[in-house]
Amino acid sequence: MATLVTGGAGYIGSHTAKELTRRGREVVVLDNLCTGHRDFLKWGVFEEGDLADSAFIDRVFEEHGIDEVVHFASFIAVGESVQKPDIYYRNNVTNTLNLLDGMVRHGVERIVFSSSAAVYGEPQAERLAEDHPLNPLSPYAWSKRMMEQVLADYGTAFGLRSVSLRYFNAAGADLDAEVGERHQPETHLIPLILAAAAGRRPSIKVFGTDYPTPDGTCLRDYIHVADLADAHVRALDHLASGEATDVFNLGNGNGFSVREIIDVARDVTGLDVPVEDAPRRAGDSPALVSASDKAMRVLGWEPRFGDVREVVSSAWNWHQKDWQ
Ligand SMILES: NC(=O)c1ccc[n+]([C@@H]2O[C@H](COP(=O)([O-])OP(=O)(O)OC[C@H]3O[C@@H](n4cnc5c(N)ncnc54)[C@H](O)[C@@H]3O)[C@@H](O)[C@H]2O)c1
Repeated sequence: MATLVTGGAGYIGSHTAKELTRRGREVVVLDNLCTGHRDFLKWGVFEEGDLADSAFIDRVFEEHGIDEVVHFASFIAVGESVQKPDIYYRNNVTNTLNLLDGMVRHGVERIVFSSSAAVYGEPQAERLAEDHPLNPLSPYAWSKRMMEQVLADYGTAFGLRSVSLRYFNAAGADLDAEVGERHQPETHLIPLILAAAAGRRPSIKVFGTDYPTPDGTCLRDYIHVADLADAHVRALDHLASGEATDVFNLGNGNGFSVREIIDVARDVTGLDVPVEDAPRRAGDSPALVSASDKAMRVLGWEPRFGDVREVVSSAWNWHQKDWQ
């Protein structure tokens, strides 16, 4: 009996592989290392290969007695997906279909899927719950929306049960700084701010300072990667206890502006953060804040890192080690 973690050499996947191992599961990481890192492979058995390869998927299912799957592997950059929809749909949709077909062939019936708050598009409420209308605004967001639908349909046709987790902004790092956030190129706010503080980038660009928010910059909901990892274990347990396919938001329920995060980073690092104001970017929502009450109620999940200072400080600990 083992848990397959696709994308386990990446940011959220590696933290989840650690948490699954800590809580007694046998982990098999499947990753082609296209954006993942060999030095993040610290937990479980590693199988290097691509989800495009059905024969490889078959071998992994056969050799390791996989009975459940957590599926992180995908391309993740919203802007790039607009330029390159072909590679995004191929990797995030076609290759995920390969994985699901492998599950059906091998009688594996439970999967936790990395969806995204990007499926909601332009917010029509202050806090977004799961029943907020879905309006994906990029091929990336569409790929997540499509896979949620495919999972529902595979449930009806083949008995595959799934939990789709719609993360808001994943942030922070492992408290032991064994793994952390390392994307190439980096597009996420906190690593970019910390790189500017450390003098590894000239400045941090603030895109849009005239939004209808308290200080004019965008509000986002930052959820610690350790809280995400915990939610994945709970979602697997939920499916293992026989529950049906479902969808949950994962966020803190608090919005922090770009300027607030910069101030927190100044405070945590004790360093100056050079800031450059820039025009709004197309497609950025003024505010994306979750209502995650359903995950709390149904999965018994509770974010432990509600204080954004702790989130930034764990990221800072990790980056200082990673940049040495
Ligand atoms: N980081 C966020 O804030 C965020 C927010 C919402 C949703 N998500 C979703 O969470 C998941 C993980 O994100 P992340 O930030 O850890 O990304 P990441 O790029 O760090 O990790 C993705 C991993 O998948 C692997 N991979 C990609 N395609 C593969 C393939 N065809 N075969 C095998 N391995 C493959 C990569 O090598 C990498 O290790 C993604 O599905 C992403 O869409 C992330």
